[in-house]
Amino acid sequence: MEYRRLGNSGLEVSAVGLGTNQFGTKLDAEASAGVVRRAVELGINFVDTADIYGGTRSEEFIGRAINGIRGELVLATKFGGARGEGPNSRGGSRQHILQGVEESLRRLGTDYIDLYQLHFPDPRTPIEETLRALDDLVHQGKVRYIGSSNFAAWQLCEAAWVARTEHLTPFVSEQAEYSLMNRHLEREVAPFCQKYNVGIIPFFPLASGFLTGKYRPDAPAPTGTRIGDNERLRTRTLTEKNFALLAKLEQFAGGHDHTVGELAIAWLLAQPQVSSVIAGATKPDQVTANAKAAAWHLTPTEAGEVTQLLGSAV
Ligand SMILES: NC(=O)c1ccc[n+]([C@@H]2O[C@H](COP(=O)([O-])OP(=O)(O)OC[C@H]3O[C@@H](n4cnc5c(N)ncnc54)[C@H](OP(=O)(O)O)[C@@H]3O)[C@@H](O)[C@H]2O)c1
Repeated sequence: MEYRRLGNSGLEVSAVGLGTNQFGTKLDAEASAGVVRRAVELGINFVDTADIYGGTRSEEFIGRAINGIRGELVLATKFGGARGEGPNSRGGSRQHILQGVEESLRRLGTDYIDLYQLHFPDPRTPIEETLRALDDLVHQGKVRYIGSSNFAAWQLCEAAWVARTEHLTPFVSEQAEYSLMNRHLEREVAPFCQKYNVGIIPFFPLASGFLTGKYRPDAPAPTGTRIGDNERLRTRTLTEKNFALLAKLEQFAGGHDHTVGELAIAWLLAQPQVSSVIAGATKPDQVTANAKAAAWHLTPTEAGEVTQLLGSAV
């Protein structure tokens, strides 16, 4: 496994990370532990979760699965999504952060979180309040690094400016949707991250599984899969246009003796500033397949050829 710096921090994360938003929904505790075990065997040290995944069970299941090996892992979780009906059960307020971190630490069975990320921008809370509360957690040793997610470039810029002028711990990473099928981040967020050396953590790298090639244009979507079991996702994703693109990508990947799923991850890893690609997995064998992508280093020319196949729209 290859390891990369998370932005301009000294923290080394595996180029392929593990996404766990199916833990506690599709996967029970035992199945989740099996996926984590396989990831660790393959050298994956970066595990991403959130306080809201699986109705908090993702954090709980990870906590159980990493008992005894916690020190080998870089644990990333998130706060800010709605965890209840109460007015303070969401967002980036000091109140919610100080309460939320204790609950995440308890569920994860650890006394520190490696990367604590604001899941979504909170327009109602001044970013200075959020950063100051997070800075306190860093000084207390409960959190080691902090990151953002789903931020616009101007919000990243504002947060970086406030951290710098107020001498607060800055965000080292931005977690955002990014894949061969969604390149919106290339417009504004990626240039910001490059300029200020913020690590990009792409989510939905496999477009919920579509980019593994397991959905075929001439066959019904397999049941028991994320897209197959979700009518809205099926209608949106299994289109003629997407299958035409998939065919081109499969041809490129096949021509290099790789799968299209490996291409989806390897292409992201060839983009500037990408620290770790957190691919979700519902089975250990999926983790094995996804981890293989880290060994495929696309040359700049190859990465450019793939980008050409995608067309110019980002
Ligand atoms: N910050 C945010 O707002 C945000 C939002 C979304 C996700 N995330 C994070 O990003 C992670 C990755 O996103 P994601 O898991 O939603 O999407 P993804 O990585 O694009 O797709 C993962 C899904 O694809 C299927 N799959 C994965 N590997 C496969 C393989 N080798 N062969 C066949 N099928 C395979 C699995 O679903 P099936 O087996 O069910 O088909 C798996 O759950 C999440 O787990 C989460 O940690 C963050």
